[in-house]
Amino acid sequence: MAEVACVQSFLRVASPEAWFEAVPEHIPELLIDHANCEKKAASTALSLMYRYVDQVPLLHQLSRLAREELRHFEQVLDLMQAQGVRYIQLSPARYAQGLHALVTKQEPRRLIDHLICGAVVEARSCERFMGLTRVLPEDIGGLYASLQKSEARHFENYLTAAHRLNETTQAYEDLPHRIGEFLKADADLITRTDTEFRFHSGPLG
Ligand SMILES: [Fe+2]
Ligand SMILES: [Fe+2]
Repeated sequence: MAEVACVQSFLRVASPEAWFEAVPEHIPELLIDHANCEKKAASTALSLMYRYVDQVPLLHQLSRLAREELRHFEQVLDLMQAQGVRYIQLSPARYAQGLHALVTKQEPRRLIDHLICGAVVEARSCERFMGLTRVLPEDIGGLYASLQKSEARHFENYLTAAHRLNETTQAYEDLPHRIGEFLKADADLITRTDTEFRFHSGPLG
């Protein structure tokens, strides 16, 4: 799987093994938070569609993405029902907020930052999906095996869109450096000890 391999080389650090080891004891939180992440991925795409109505090719891409993420949400919901997991409110992980704190206010850098954020979140999700298939029973892990390819594609689409927009706007002189700042934040958020188990949490301390 070429796409999945490129996700691993993009990220600066692998998820800590301690996070994967904790998964079997936290399956309800994993599934609920994963369902929330799929909803959030769809709503992030939708909010970008409201803000950037002049970016027609991007609108098509985001619209397809939002539909796909909602389909994933339905798949997680079905799995939760099959596993007898009750959908309750869970506070979000610090991860998404931590990454979004880096987004610049000024355009066109702001949109490029949002696209970088999207790429990093999708890459990290894909990497976790890969590891989850190792530690979950087959009736749950099967979903994660099936979702890997689409998240790797979402990662590539977001990253390509960021590069394309930067080429036309010249917003960043050194885009790889800017991407590196988000990857550094991701590495910190994913490896630093956390208090609650979530889909994008660090290892529990
Ligand atoms: Fe998804
Ligand atoms: Fe995705």
